[in-house]
Amino acid sequence: MTQQQDGSASGGSSKLWGGRFSGETNELVERFNASIDFDRRLYREDIAGSIAHAHMLAAQGIISAEDSAAIERGLLAIRDDIDAGTFEFRLDREDIHLNIEAALTERIGDPGRRLHTARSRNDQVATDVRLFTRAACDETIDALQALRGVLIDVADAQPSTVIPGYTHLQRAQPILLAHHLLAYEAMFARDTERFVQARARANVLPLGSGALAGVTYPIDRAAVAQELGFAAISENSLDAVSDRDFVVDYHSATALTMVHISRMAEEIILWSTAEFGFARLADAFSTGSSIMPQKKNPDVAELGRGKSARAIGNLVQALTLLKGQPLAYNKDNQEDKESLFDSVDTVLVTLRVFAAMLPTITFDGPRGAEAAVANFALATDLADYLAKKGVPFRDAHEAVGALVARCEREGRTFSELTLEEFRAAHPAFDEDAMRIDLVASLAARDIPGGTAPRAVAQARAAARARLAAERGW
Ligand code: ARG
Repeated sequence: MTQQQDGSASGGSSKLWGGRFSGETNELVERFNASIDFDRRLYREDIAGSIAHAHMLAAQGIISAEDSAAIERGLLAIRDDIDAGTFEFRLDREDIHLNIEAALTERIGDPGRRLHTARSRNDQVATDVRLFTRAACDETIDALQALRGVLIDVADAQPSTVIPGYTHLQRAQPILLAHHLLAYEAMFARDTERFVQARARANVLPLGSGALAGVTYPIDRAAVAQELGFAAISENSLDAVSDRDFVVDYHSATALTMVHISRMAEEIILWSTAEFGFARLADAFSTGSSIMPQKKNPDVAELGRGKSARAIGNLVQALTLLKGQPLAYNKDNQEDKESLFDSVDTVLVTLRVFAAMLPTITFDGPRGAEAAVANFALATDLADYLAKKGVPFRDAHEAVGALVARCEREGRTFSELTLEEFRAAHPAFDEDAMRIDLVASLAARDIPGGTAPRAVAQARAAARARLAAERGW
């Protein structure tokens, strides 16, 4: 059998792997088997990996320096063509690895046919996906940090805006809006950490593992790792070609990030309703209704909430993909890519659009302050007042509870009660109890992590310092 320029064997199958085949692939199978429609996205990683591999093969005397130079030139030209959109991807060449290798051989001949020495598509694809995931982690970390910067900016711009804090979505105690925003900053800071950890676990070189058992050539894996910026080489060839746990790590961090986004989105949606009325969305970040002329809809926030479903779905898909796979590589793993790409695209666009939207939201300070003290939101402060006078907290709780019940019956608020009426609920009440208001309530929570303006100012500065330190990594 003679070899043709495109690397195919004449007579039998036209595939790069077709040597032992005598017939062509079924047309449906060709489509079913091919991943080129999506894994073409890995071309930069694939080419970088191949160039590093060729350099190493030459340095080890496995191929000649001339072959390595020809391979590098050829691959860079292919990269330029793909960049320019002039490269022809062929379904019959199955995937990105075979498309590039076959095109290389078409262009440079024999040296192209030596590139796959001491390498399998199994360690090649694992390397590509690790390079891609590592870059995705970097981009996601960057987008998270940008969003956190915006949250801190908005918190700084609203140092004294007050809203009701909720538990069970019932008004509970007054809080600063800045405190509320910093809660999300804290979630996204932990998400950032998770991507840093995901990056570290992805940053290991599988190449050199061969198909599954290692290769028979005197390769230098450390040199390849160094050229590609990997921190280490994989320890076990079977594990290296087959596991995609680093992809699951990415999905997991993404799913949680998107869950956090969905929580923030939900609050933006609630706050911009007539019922809450704490926030108004900018025209640029809302949409209208095709039938109801008065509508202004929080579509961006709703999509952020809705897109979390994808990220969670992709995590479950990746876990399910790996479950029960015997060692080592199985073609199942070709299914790792579309969901990974989808999660990367989803989380990046979502983080970016939320970072752009947040500074455009207008907050209604008076409305927030009014709502913050309505519905007896200062009841805990009154109970604390009694407890600080020596009343056991449980008794104080009961006494204030009775006051709330009385006010509700009579349609009054705390501020309308006389001192005698306070005393009727508990004799430990004095004049100063009547001075407990919104400002006092907030200022009283002056502990680290609390909502007092001073504590929140410290938290804003701490969050900014942490972000600056991370950015300096
Ligand atoms: N397209 C394949 C994938 O994405 C590349 C590895 C194929 N290896 C193999 N032995 N068929 O996983």
